[in-house]
Amino acid sequence: MKVAIIGTGYVGLPTGVGLAELGNKVVCVDKIAEKIDSLNSGKITIYEDGMEELFQKNLKKGSISFTQDMETAVKDADLVMIAVGTPPHPETKEADLKYIYAAAEELAQYLTGYTVVATKSTVPVGTGDEVEAIIKRVNPDANCDVVSLPEFLREGFAIHDFFNPDRIVIGANTTKAQEVLLTLYKPFKGKTEFLLVNRKSSETIKYASNAFLAMKIHYINEMANFCEKAGADINEVAKGMGLDSRIGKKFLNAGPGYGGSCFPKDTNAMAQMGKKYGARLNLIETTIAKNDERKVEMGQRVIDAVKDYKDGKIAVLGLAFKGGTDDCRDSPAMEILNEILRHSSNVSVYDPKAMENAQKLIGDKVVYANDAYEACKSADILVILTEWEEFKHLDLVKLKQIMRHARIMDMRNMLNPKDVKNNGFVYSCIGMK
Ligand code: UGA
Repeated sequence: MKVAIIGTGYVGLPTGVGLAELGNKVVCVDKIAEKIDSLNSGKITIYEDGMEELFQKNLKKGSISFTQDMETAVKDADLVMIAVGTPPHPETKEADLKYIYAAAEELAQYLTGYTVVATKSTVPVGTGDEVEAIIKRVNPDANCDVVSLPEFLREGFAIHDFFNPDRIVIGANTTKAQEVLLTLYKPFKGKTEFLLVNRKSSETIKYASNAFLAMKIHYINEMANFCEKAGADINEVAKGMGLDSRIGKKFLNAGPGYGGSCFPKDTNAMAQMGKKYGARLNLIETTIAKNDERKVEMGQRVIDAVKDYKDGKIAVLGLAFKGGTDDCRDSPAMEILNEILRHSSNVSVYDPKAMENAQKLIGDKVVYANDAYEACKSADILVILTEWEEFKHLDLVKLKQIMRHARIMDMRNMLNPKDVKNNGFVYSCIGMK
């Protein structure tokens, strides 16, 4: 199948690489010339575990290519996927659909033959109707169906998730469009659940899922606060809860608050939609407010702790919004770091993948270290903010030798409290006294 993908970000690129690997002919379009040049010359623009190899292989085979020219991509395509950003509107916090609408306007001109136009980006309920109306206005002769095709890929694990989906949701209002997508996803037949639903349900499923996961994290974080006061252990509590299959083990890791380019944006957009339709989503509204407060509180914990030392140096490990990605957008680590920087300027940082992106956001306000140990040299407090696997295996004996004071604040509950304490550290984490 010939597939055009508009947008080469964290959704478009892994989806394009995955579809090319499944045997489709994929052409990705992006407005940014440097991105296109870089991708065509074999240089990948974002970090995703396992993507490099598949990308190189399919680029060489010609199964995937990149262009700035919409016509080249869309002409003769069986399927056009819109995977552009839907950032929050700075004032209303609603999803800003200007890139979606611009893509619809442009692609409409080049549609030839029957084409399915699928929205991969996370878009508010009713956007499909709007995209359909734009296409009809720009190209009244266009023979196409507009479909909602939400993606559930996690950043950092997008390739794994692409090939191992929990479900494939197809929000199409015609059987003809359904058939095109069932053909595209045929390799997954028998391996996952296919959900054929109406377009508005499909658009809602995506938001309702992300908002639920965000609420689940907020719930466990609130429970962690309770455990700290009551003397319980959140790791034990989460394990005990998660073993109930109705609750499930996943997304019960207490931490510094959720972040990233999806949950904060999508919870806000969902809350706004609730207001718009006169059906207030109080649980989501509370989740948003409390998650925002949590990051300030976490920063405050570090500031309070460093007051124990004169000119205390803080080593921060982890800047990405979670382990496995280089993305710092709406990263809890960055927000906590900013809070810390309001009170202290003696901070060194290290992240295995996100240094470059972090530097774009905070410039020279911190010292950038080459590894965890360099960051911790002469530090009074080590703060872990992102759950990178390598932080689990820190050499505690070495750390103790190089730090000025042996104190660790582990906001991802990564380390074994007994080990850390046995090595002579003062240790604090989330959800335990
Ligand atoms: C999220 C969803 O998990 C994907 O299914 C969805 O496709 C994607 O948004 C999207 O809409 O594009 P992602 O933003 O990549 O994926 O990140 P998650 O792995 O969900 O993590 C989000 C945040 O929650 C991170 O800050 C993470 O550290 C935090 N988190 C996650 C916790 O604090 N505790 C947990 O138990 C799990």
